[in-house]
Amino acid sequence: MDLSLFADGPLAGTAELPGDKSLSHRAALFATLAEGESVIEHFLDAGVTRALLSALNRFGIQWWLSDDCLTLKGHGYRPLRNCAGRPLVIPCRNSATTLRLLAGAVAGTGTVCVLDGSEGLRKRPMERILEPLRLLGCPVESENGFAPITFRSLRGVERSPIHYTLPVASAQVKSCLILAALGVEGETVLTEPGPSRDHTERMLRSMGADIVTEPGHVVRVHSLRESLSPLHIRLPGDLSSAAFLLAAAACRPDSSILLKEVGVNPTRTGFLDVLAAMGASVELLNEHEVCGEPVADIRLEARPLHGVEIEGDLVVRMIDEFPVFAALACAADGVSRVRGAAELRYKESDRIASLCVELRKLGAKIEESPDGFSIEGGPLAGGEAEAHGDHRLAMALALSGLFAENEVIVHGAEILEESFPDFAVSLEELGVSSC
Ligand code: S3P
Repeated sequence: MDLSLFADGPLAGTAELPGDKSLSHRAALFATLAEGESVIEHFLDAGVTRALLSALNRFGIQWWLSDDCLTLKGHGYRPLRNCAGRPLVIPCRNSATTLRLLAGAVAGTGTVCVLDGSEGLRKRPMERILEPLRLLGCPVESENGFAPITFRSLRGVERSPIHYTLPVASAQVKSCLILAALGVEGETVLTEPGPSRDHTERMLRSMGADIVTEPGHVVRVHSLRESLSPLHIRLPGDLSSAAFLLAAAACRPDSSILLKEVGVNPTRTGFLDVLAAMGASVELLNEHEVCGEPVADIRLEARPLHGVEIEGDLVVRMIDEFPVFAALACAADGVSRVRGAAELRYKESDRIASLCVELRKLGAKIEESPDGFSIEGGPLAGGEAEAHGDHRLAMALALSGLFAENEVIVHGAEILEESFPDFAVSLEELGVSSC
């Protein structure tokens, strides 16, 4: 599918966002490990969450998705069933969150199976979960540090808790290890180099798990003493999807939009800080908490934008927003620089390389470095670009059409169905048309 976006004047109005992707993954998986029926409202129905739901099907988990309400019968924290009658291979499609979080649940409960993924997912690094899972004593195998990953029986295996420092700040790795550690007698202590999103800690704690967080990005996980309680929650809108609407408004003079009920967990709000630092007016209204997660309405008013420097913890707090940031930086005055973001090379595409190649095709002045990029803002000519099988790249490139001198056509844009199937519909509510 090709995608182009058009707007005549400023963006205005109110939009609601689909349910948060990270929270949807966690809610479905943790509900599986709980005892009893969970009801999860405003669940994200998109490619990556369908990957997890169909994996759960293979384990015989019963769930119903009606509109955006997921009802799921928990199985408890014990080995998941093999309903196939032969070695169970679970395809995680394109979803690294599905694979890495399931890996923790499978390793912790002692489920025998193989986790595999699409060609793209098979290229994403898995040694980062394999090494610490092995240190915990979990019998996991992979030929070369990539999927497929084989999980063997725990029969005769001794597992023991670990003190482990993650080499990179990663919520997927941390969540994998937390889920595995729930099944290992004693206290596992995980330390991260930065503030990765803490949804797993918050949600599992709300379900009764004994998880303590300490300053210095330390998480202490104790083995489960009692069953996890089922969830009855309404998920907030996804801030990473909201980022595209906010950027669309920020790059159109005189725009003013309001996004309702968006998750504003501080480990995710780096892009809001960056929008404000670039000059946009960003305001949080109606701040409240839903099941331990901060939620707010976000008002954005467009103002002239200027370049910014991004490094350190801010990189972690906006790890999914670099494609949209890069597009916006092209619309800003002056130079923007990103450093210390080598992790972007291990996302759905090598986001440093793919952003540089594609934005350059559209006329951007962008320079690649090993751990980031720099952009000199200025008029974009427009033209044609490729999505590289990366949902966030597809949406970010399309967005640059809102300020380019000519149309921007993004090829392979169907990939945005992975996280934000209603991207064009939400933009339309704010005055942007698409074809
Ligand atoms: C996610 C964590 C992040 C993020 C991904 C979702 C999660 O990945 O990029 O889109 O839900 O835990 P890393 O943990 O690899 O940084």
